Amino acid sequence: MDTERSTSNLCSLQSHILAEETHHPGASGDFSWIVSAISLAGKAIAHQVRRARLEGVLGDQGATNVQGESQQRMDVIANEILMRCLGTRASIAVLASEEDDQPTILRRGVDGGKYCVLFDPLDGSSTLDTNGAVGTIFTILRNDPQIESAEGTVCQPGRRQVAAGYILYGPSTAFVITTGTGVDLFELDPFIGSFLLVKRGLRIPKARKVYSVNEAYTASFPCGYQSYLAWAHTNGYSSRYIGSLCADAHRILLNGGVFLYPPTITHPEGKLRLLYEANPMAMIFEQAGGKAISGSTPTMDINPRKLHQRVPLVLGSSDEVDAVLSHLAKDGSAH
Ligand code: AHG
Ligand code: MN
Ligand code: MN
Repeated sequence: MDTERSTSNLCSLQSHILAEETHHPGASGDFSWIVSAISLAGKAIAHQVRRARLEGVLGDQGATNVQGESQQRMDVIANEILMRCLGTRASIAVLASEEDDQPTILRRGVDGGKYCVLFDPLDGSSTLDTNGAVGTIFTILRNDPQIESAEGTVCQPGRRQVAAGYILYGPSTAFVITTGTGVDLFELDPFIGSFLLVKRGLRIPKARKVYSVNEAYTASFPCGYQSYLAWAHTNGYSSRYIGSLCADAHRILLNGGVFLYPPTITHPEGKLRLLYEANPMAMIFEQAGGKAISGSTPTMDINPRKLHQRVPLVLGSSDEVDAVLSHLAKDGSAH
């Protein structure tokens, strides 16, 4: 991937978002103020992640979250950082997190709450103990003041996302965002403390013979997924799986390929959460020319029923997602 970055065009996330705003007449700056809060939280979380072992905050929190999963201490720390950074933004009505059972209502629409922000504060946190790459996934929705309940307000189909993105805490800290007019990639320059634009209008390769799935669960996948994997095994594919959605997705977004998390016995609806994992990734991948499906339905067409709803997910290069779809259709296991 060629980088557009040169010292002559130092463009920060802040100035990029403000410049984008000029394309939206009547924009009040509320939206860019929210992105700046996410950027601030990302820098703070990046710092915490890098010092986690030194500060003894790795490992289990000793509690299970609403997902029934053991919470990592860093899950809680990242969640608190995001809540503190976003809680001060006057244009946010509702915040919702993977780590919290219920959404947090900050203010009603009549009091200025124009947006809802949902996030997975630390994705892939179980890999943190062994220095694996982890991420923060976020999505921004418009607040609908007509809807009474906070959960009802945030249960919007992915097509209605205003923006989506993730921050990947790897050897570098990458910030990927789309506001519906393409995907832009920023990298944190720790010396100046800014996310700098390195790629505008990122496009995913149309095809790449690499799949990403936890093969340990193959026996419990619906047969369409099993026949796809058997086909891939005899058609020159290789496999890469980190077990951290942000890290696996970022590799595929840049190099091409396909990620699969099918239904399993443990997670018959799929493991990944629709509202703050699958939908934001789906918006990013579709904006970059890729595809995202859950069963045979485009992920962003699903009407959510509840905040922590899980879905199966196939995400990646358009040709590679089509190859999976063709096997699901043949074996009737797309649902
Ligand atoms: P989280 O750490 O937010 O709970 O997400 C973990 C998810 C996702 O990051 C990854 O793709 C998937 O869990 C890996 O699941 P398996 O360990 O079952 O493969
Ligand atoms: Mn996650
Ligand atoms: Mn998480």
